[in-house]
Amino acid sequence: MAFEDKIKELLDKRELAKLGGGQKRIDSQHAKNKLTARERIEMLLDEGSFEEFDMFVTHRCTDFGLEKQEFLSDGVVTGHGTIDGRVVYVFSQDFTVFGGSLSESFAKKICKVMDQAMKVGAPLIGINDSGGARIQEGVQSLAGYAEIFERNILASGVIPQISAIFGPCAGGAVYSPALTDFIIMSKDTSYMFVTGPKVVKTVTGEVVTDEELGGAAVHGSKSGVTHMIADNEEEGIMLIRKLMSYLPQNNLEEPPAVVCDDPIDRLEDQLNYFIPDNPNKPYDVKEVIHSIVDRSEFLEIHRHYAPNIVVGFARFNGMSVGIVANQPSYLAGVLDINASRKAARFVRFCDAFNIPLLTLVDVPGFLPGTAQEYGGIIIHGAKLLFAYGEATVPKVTIILRKAYGGAYDVMSSKHLRGDINYAWPTAEIAVMGPKGAIEILHSKKLQEITDPKEREEYVLKAEAEYKAKFANPYNAAKYGFIDDVIEPRNTRFRVIRALQALATKKDVNPPKKHSNIPL
Ligand code: HXC
Repeated sequence: MAFEDKIKELLDKRELAKLGGGQKRIDSQHAKNKLTARERIEMLLDEGSFEEFDMFVTHRCTDFGLEKQEFLSDGVVTGHGTIDGRVVYVFSQDFTVFGGSLSESFAKKICKVMDQAMKVGAPLIGINDSGGARIQEGVQSLAGYAEIFERNILASGVIPQISAIFGPCAGGAVYSPALTDFIIMSKDTSYMFVTGPKVVKTVTGEVVTDEELGGAAVHGSKSGVTHMIADNEEEGIMLIRKLMSYLPQNNLEEPPAVVCDDPIDRLEDQLNYFIPDNPNKPYDVKEVIHSIVDRSEFLEIHRHYAPNIVVGFARFNGMSVGIVANQPSYLAGVLDINASRKAARFVRFCDAFNIPLLTLVDVPGFLPGTAQEYGGIIIHGAKLLFAYGEATVPKVTIILRKAYGGAYDVMSSKHLRGDINYAWPTAEIAVMGPKGAIEILHSKKLQEITDPKEREEYVLKAEAEYKAKFANPYNAAKYGFIDDVIEPRNTRFRVIRALQALATKKDVNPPKKHSNIPL
């Protein structure tokens, strides 16, 4: 074959591979408001940076007439490229080839990029759009999944792993994304479930749609399986790029610092008057977050799940920081099962990837009741406690208002190796709120007083006495549990100073195989 013919053969093969399962199936993908596997990669990576691997791989199955149906790339596009100039490894499942179903060859392609991502210490981004195990391949396909799972597990805490779900993701296939650090689902075009509506109907008689069972809204708010929901794929891809900007390449690197054009000593006068006089009045803690971080930019994670706690990424003087904040405007910011799980996972992610933590505290305690106790709030609350206590990244804490009971301890207190703990003058640090405390401390006396007016006066006096003692930060400061009481308007500057001081912090945990976090 002449040299030109060889080049032509290569180019023709490339063009054929790019067509995936063919133009008809590409059109059908577009008609469903979905991009193709390669279009998604092009959008995700810096222009022209994608280097594809294994374009010429095909499946090896000879059953069910599959030997007559071969597609170059075999349903998954893999390789590496850059995001904002930093290397990432990617795979993108191609629904146009056998519904993106996973064959032995398909799994090997994914494993290859996972192995290389681990060797070079670069993040892995997987785009999922698949009918699950390639039915014709049987156990070969199941084996392929498990090979991927094992790699997800070994890579956990070493390189950031991000999963986008832009189509079906069902059966055991859901467990690869579930093992990664972040899941992003597109609205209306994606779903995830272990067993689909048909099986559900057969087994339980329940009738549900794909969307009701495992759509983005369900996983974003009810199950918490997905960390972010995007209106469409383009937005989902931009969210991945944004998320990446806060993360280091691997667990041995620091997150990227960016030049900060927001003055570090910017005073926010309104914060001095921000906390309502009435301690039971809610406020939106996100207003505090937005006013103190660089350029008011905050990337919230799990926005719709357990909104009584807010978690997400921001920057202070260009440094990437993970923020955890109780949210008084939802359930008074109480800690419940879901909030504890959500925050614990976030704290552990930040700790694994050297991202300092800022904790903003306004918490009335743990949510009481049988639903919480039967659901295991003891174990789930312990997760958050464990995550904070184990974390060795710089930990800066500010008590804005309430820090009551066990929740005071949990929320990155000094006693859990909190490094710099500040309080606003509005802080109230106590075993419990005044009402509950008076009922317990004065129960005998209150039973003796029969006149309601006299009783009310007694309670008011006792409450005033209790508040004078505990409804302030100075009692905690007296013991050094609070390093300083700060003026709220100066919070941004004080946080930046704290983070600068802690930038070289080194702390370790005792040597062990691994901890036994209460799961
Ligand atoms: C082989 C598959 C396939 C699969 C889809 N296709 N799923 N081929 N194995 N698992 C093929 C179809 O035959 C069709 O081929 C093309 O992909 C598109 O599929 P359609 O059904 O036409 O598309 P749509 O109507 O959009 O429905 C998509 C779907 C449906 C909901 C995903 O295809 C489906 O239910 N597939 C089976 C899902 C499933 O049960 N998978 C196994 C789950 S268990 P043509 O040639 O017509 O284009 C599992 C175990 C994993 O995955 C275990 C890990 C531990």
